[in-house]
Amino acid sequence: MSSLDYTAQPTATTQPRQRDQYAVVGNPIGHSKSPVIHHAFAKQTDEALDYTAIELPVDSFESELREIQKRGYKGVNVTVPFKQQAWKVCDERSPRAEDAGAVNTLIFGDDGKISGDNTDGAGLARDLVKNHSVLIKRQKILILGAGGAVRGVLAPLLALAPLSVTIVNRTVNKAQDLADAFRTIGDVRACGYDELNNEKYDLIINGTSAGLNQEIPPIAPEVLGINSVCYDMMYNTSAPTAFVEWARSHGASRAIDGLGMLVEQAAESFYAWRGVLPETAGVIQSLRQ
Ligand code: ATR
Repeated sequence: MSSLDYTAQPTATTQPRQRDQYAVVGNPIGHSKSPVIHHAFAKQTDEALDYTAIELPVDSFESELREIQKRGYKGVNVTVPFKQQAWKVCDERSPRAEDAGAVNTLIFGDDGKISGDNTDGAGLARDLVKNHSVLIKRQKILILGAGGAVRGVLAPLLALAPLSVTIVNRTVNKAQDLADAFRTIGDVRACGYDELNNEKYDLIINGTSAGLNQEIPPIAPEVLGINSVCYDMMYNTSAPTAFVEWARSHGASRAIDGLGMLVEQAAESFYAWRGVLPETAGVIQSLRQ
């Protein structure tokens, strides 16, 4: 920027910038941190946008979503329980959204088309690698759970070339289905909790929804080696999550919750909408306080 640009002052006729509208849709949505995160990103990058949280009725997702689109919104984030339904309404999807079978980011194009992306896996990978310097390459990874949340992160994790990924789930055939779907891109295995056989893992990721009920999956502490890192895809800013507590009490070298993943997936969504990748460290820090 030249010094002349720098000294330019707005004139009396300068109009306030039009703000583009975005939202997160889900049910329930009351406690979503996404509006705070996206407003922080907008301020930091000087992007003119507004971002709200909208609770949609569980039985009329598509019609309500199209209403939001008609009102001129440029895009939405999608959260529980609508990520799979959102995948279905897309006119086009990114390769990572195809892999995930679910989308968390919708882009409403000027031509009326809906494009879908899934930034959850990239958010997890960036939090692990960039924020926490967790090594993935040639490491043994154990993932707890085999629902939509786990499906969404498998391809981005496998892209980081771990030695193996073992999916353990109460309902073993769901773990088996996921392993079958992703076996072409890496060494992916499946088993039940009682089949873990005291093997140690370098990284243990909790992708179950057990934490919603303050529960932890039925996992034997023998999976932890002396350098094992535990990561909970859930987060809690007021107290450690149940899985983080479990990991600490059984001697994990590090136990990390998913707040950073939340902010990183939001940054990836922001990039998909605005073409600008915001800085995340300060936002994560402010949410912790
Ligand atoms: P999400 O979209 O959040 O992944 P989901 O598709 O309902 O939600 O999947 C929830 C996952 O958490 C499943 O893997 C579930 O195990 P089952 O498939 O056996 O039901 C797992 N889960 C939920 N509560 C659990 C608990 N208390 N212990 C272990 N696993 C649990």
